[in-house]
Amino acid sequence: MISIEDISLSYRDNLIISSASMEIKNNAVTALLGESGAGKSTVARLLTGLLTPETGRVMMDSQLLVSSSQKYDRKKGLSIQMVQQHPYLSLDPRQRISDGFLEIIRYHHMAEKGKEKELIREVTEAVGLGAVVINHLPGQISGGEAQRVSLAKALLFKPQLLILDEATSMLDVSTQANVLSLVKRIREKSGLSVLLITHDSELSETYSDYIYRIENKTIRREK
Ligand SMILES: Nc1ncnc2c1ncn2[C@@H]1O[C@H](COP(=O)(O)OP(=O)(O)O)[C@@H](O)[C@H]1O
Ligand SMILES: [Mg+2]
Repeated sequence: MISIEDISLSYRDNLIISSASMEIKNNAVTALLGESGAGKSTVARLLTGLLTPETGRVMMDSQLLVSSSQKYDRKKGLSIQMVQQHPYLSLDPRQRISDGFLEIIRYHHMAEKGKEKELIREVTEAVGLGAVVINHLPGQISGGEAQRVSLAKALLFKPQLLILDEATSMLDVSTQANVLSLVKRIREKSGLSVLLITHDSELSETYSDYIYRIENKTIRREK
């Protein structure tokens, strides 16, 4: 379980979150629901180590991830992976999809030479990407496929927590449903937990076990 305890977050003098707490349970989908500008991505930045809290702490299975007085534990942080809103943004337009995977695998020493292709096949099959698609350039794949690529890259890290920050909001309704159903199946199979960040209350009802709403600088449990 990941627990966010008494957290305050701000950009310079602009307080965005004030003494808020929430829990992200293992093996479940937790939604973080709120209007645009409410501070949802700011919470994601806390969890991925991009923003240091002014008060409070974040615990991961009763170990400290970050606090106002202790910096983010990068090593633990690798088990928190995020898929962002814009599917193409993280892709290098001149790099074939498969080479993007290879780069991550090599940088993080995720597989021995000779086993790299196998690992790519494993994660891309898990998200339903065909062998043809992974030989394409980003400009040759659809938005839904690009989002599956991001998802597969996150899965390479065998994360404990997968954060989807409005990850499907750029997709059409049926592609969005496909990707979210896929995430649900992966979650059931591998037991990871998911933080589903969205402004869409219907979507959070459909896909999550717990719902928190972020409003007026604070976070409260809704379901
Ligand atoms: N890097 C930044 N510097 C200053 N203010 C920011 C920065 N990022 C976001 N904000 C402000 O913080 C508030 C919350 O933003 P954000 O967390 O992105 O909202 P959400 O993801 O819910 O739409 C907004 O008012 C936004 O303008
Ligand atoms: Mg946002």
